[in-house]
Amino acid sequence: MSEPIVLGIESSCDETGVALVRGTTLLGDALASSVDEHVRFGGVVPEVASRAHLEAIVPMLERACADAGLTLADVDAVAVTAGPGLAGALMVGVSAAKAVAWALDRPLYGVNHLCAHVCADVLDHGPLPEPTVALLVSGGHTDLLLVRDIATDVEALGRTIDDAAGEAFDKVARVLGVPYPGGPHLDRLATQGDSTAIRFPRGLTSGRDLERHRFDFSFSGLKTAVVRWVQERERAGLDVPVADVAASFAEAVADVLTRKAIDACRTHGITDLQIGGGVTANSQLRAMAEERCATAGINLRVPRVRLCTDNGAMVAALGAQVVARGLPPAGLGLGTDSSLP
Ligand code: KG4
Ligand code: ZN
Repeated sequence: MSEPIVLGIESSCDETGVALVRGTTLLGDALASSVDEHVRFGGVVPEVASRAHLEAIVPMLERACADAGLTLADVDAVAVTAGPGLAGALMVGVSAAKAVAWALDRPLYGVNHLCAHVCADVLDHGPLPEPTVALLVSGGHTDLLLVRDIATDVEALGRTIDDAAGEAFDKVARVLGVPYPGGPHLDRLATQGDSTAIRFPRGLTSGRDLERHRFDFSFSGLKTAVVRWVQERERAGLDVPVADVAASFAEAVADVLTRKAIDACRTHGITDLQIGGGVTANSQLRAMAEERCATAGINLRVPRVRLCTDNGAMVAALGAQVVARGLPPAGLGLGTDSSLP
């Protein structure tokens, strides 16, 4: 018998993603985003996101099936993001997943959004070598993970102690007058700047801080340093070289992320590093990770950008791994956990 077809549903933040996966093959997917509706608020508004999911979920189910040339009846199992994420947003995806599972009498699995980000990579590069060190950098999370088994055994080595990397991008963007979501805009701006123009601080990378927080991250000091630097220029009546600031800021973020991720690989004797999450779209981070991993003899796995940001394919991919291991389904009593670790 061929491998089961798993339907994946993602609705933890502002993206409504639905996809069908068989094993590590993406059969079809569909994605709707409410990002434009949040622009005027400068950040994701939970109620707006929930309403947008409600409107998008059925069209995305239809579109993902059409993209795969299949119907819902072809689905063997249903996987959905159960957390972490915005409570109301998660409920829309989980409710839709329950409806499909119940109507078709298929097993239902709740998956962890963060593990799903890591698992997205299997769709581009095949099964994850285990153990792997995974660096997850998104708008809500910055985690360094030791993945012994993507479905059952993921250990957090470290995390941000304040802002997530994506959050820092979004906040610095606001200071520079760049529209929300700041990350992609700042990235484009940085291509015209000099990343060595300003030396911004690298949090938790030296002395006692490093000893105590070897695999943890801190970006709030960096953000404050950028704000101060910009304010001082303005106070002195000088132009703010926005592209240089953007490039130098991204350089500091990429430096810390790659340094700590490679240190984690060396410490644990692991030669594979997987990077995922929305910030992985950043061109400076990608380039620096490639260069440093090549020098360190580490095999770097970064999926295509579309699979780095929130999507349904990563949820279906993790669902397929869960199903393949014969783990028990959650059943229709599945709840959501907005702060799932
Ligand atoms: O993983 P994701 O799509 O959603 C969350 O689960 O958070 O990540 C979104 C974050 C946002 O903060 C966004 O500004 C950032 O990823 N981001 C980027 C880039 N593209 C998205 N940050 C830096 N450079 C980019 N090119
Ligand atoms: Zn995410």
